[in-house]
Amino acid sequence: IAPASGATDAFVGCLAAAGVPPRLVQTPASPSYAALLLSSVRNLRYAAPGAPRPLAIVAAAEPAHAQATVRCGRRHGVRVRTRSGGHDYEGLSYASLDPRERFAVLDLAAFRDVRVDAARAEAWAGSGATLGEVYYAVGAASRALAFPAGICPTVGVGGHLSGGGFGTLMRRYGLAADNVLDAVLVDADGRLLNRTTMGEDLFWAIRGGGGESFGVVLSWKLRLVPVPPTVTVFTVRRSRNQSASDLITKWQVIAPALPRDLILRVVVQNQHARFEALFLGRCSRLLDHMGAHFPDLGVTRADCEEISWIRSAVYFAFYSSSKPLELLLDRSGETGRFVKAKSDYVQEPIPLHVWERTWSWLEKPEAGLLILDPYGGRMASISPSATPFPHRKGNLYNLQYYSYWVENGTAALGKRMGWVRGLYKEMEPYVSKNPRTGYVNYRDLDLGTNEVEGNVTSYAKGRIWGEKYFKGNFERLAAVKAVVDPDDFFRNEQSIPPLPAAN
Ligand code: FDA
Repeated sequence: IAPASGATDAFVGCLAAAGVPPRLVQTPASPSYAALLLSSVRNLRYAAPGAPRPLAIVAAAEPAHAQATVRCGRRHGVRVRTRSGGHDYEGLSYASLDPRERFAVLDLAAFRDVRVDAARAEAWAGSGATLGEVYYAVGAASRALAFPAGICPTVGVGGHLSGGGFGTLMRRYGLAADNVLDAVLVDADGRLLNRTTMGEDLFWAIRGGGGESFGVVLSWKLRLVPVPPTVTVFTVRRSRNQSASDLITKWQVIAPALPRDLILRVVVQNQHARFEALFLGRCSRLLDHMGAHFPDLGVTRADCEEISWIRSAVYFAFYSSSKPLELLLDRSGETGRFVKAKSDYVQEPIPLHVWERTWSWLEKPEAGLLILDPYGGRMASISPSATPFPHRKGNLYNLQYYSYWVENGTAALGKRMGWVRGLYKEMEPYVSKNPRTGYVNYRDLDLGTNEVEGNVTSYAKGRIWGEKYFKGNFERLAAVKAVVDPDDFFRNEQSIPPLPAAN
């Protein structure tokens, strides 16, 4: 094994020879390396001093730069970690758990063009664009179109679409990945492929099979979806002593069965539950639905706000619809936080007494929050094998355990991580089983990490975490991997391993 400095020189020299301008390649010796590395780090747990650092960051500006990064990486034993928005909960786009791994970060922040063709209801979005940039461009082009994806506007298109992507339109239109029509990808040989040239198996795998495993997606062709010019939002807060546990217990069966034009999610924090809704229509009709399906929540006309869909994106991101739309373009967002999250799928309603008990968890000084996103509607009518994302019919909702903190040090880390893990353990009897499933975009290394045997990631070990995210689709993902990247170049702690020939 060549020392890191030798590998760096050879890799950087190869990039220069391939025409990548040196100003786009930062090594630890470069003055702007640290700033570029931290530019989209969303979890300080993986930016601590002493964490393994990339030997170079390539801020690609053209497809040829990404192709050269892959080719030079393979030639010189430097792995490539692709970073779009940097929101990976376990930092896999910029950090490695293996101190011996030699890797470069391929930063796609410059691939952020969003071109909307309103007449065709389509758009091309670069992987480095944020969801906020996509929403802004779509909203500017038409009041009648939207794109169904996540709530946080700084999330990157690249990682989000690679893992599925759900938000307030999912009950009507499914996942972001369900609405991808084409993609441009650099494969393990450095070739630039589109849907036709990559083939349907690889195109299936990149729409939900998780980032990193199959290549570098540079851009995505999106199907835009129709929305009415006026939608309605509301947020109602009910505290523990306003029978929040009773309401949450009822919500579990009501929300997944509501009309698909309506999503009612819940955030449970401190000693209250916040019920947040988006309805693709006007307030009067929304009140009819609430009266018919969930009168106990007591929603009134005074709770409603009638706005455009793009304003609803601002509303859910910033808890106010009157903030400037341009905030959607702010890529900085909340940095400077440590984060730990885990997720579950709930298939049977969790009993009232369990919700009653949960308040004591939420009272603790180190408490995080719970986010409950209801499925049903369109989510339940898509086949579990249509994309790698298998959590369709039969899942009432996704339950996310989320903690963030700003205090540095091991004491805070231990307490916060302990809270997330402890509550997750306590919920085990009440959530999906065999396997206990989770959402790949809520990356959780507690579910298991890859082991390399020989020079290839073990499929047998990978199944331990892989079937939790992908259920029966894991084997098909591994079969695609074996064809498109048999040498397992694109690899991280939870990348898809190649299916061994005997399987
Ligand atoms: P990042 O750049 O860190 O990439 C994530 C993974 O994908 C890494 O393994 C990376 O190597 C790989 N990757 C990135 N770009 C790639 C590319 N172009 N080609 C191939 N591989 C690539 N999810 C959700 O469904 N709904 C939601 O509402 C939210 N909300 C939310 C809020 C906040 C604050 C956070 C931190 C996260 C979410 N998420 C979410 C989860 C989010 O969808 C998930 O973290 C995405 O993978 C983030 O994508 P980024 O491009 O930002 O991450």
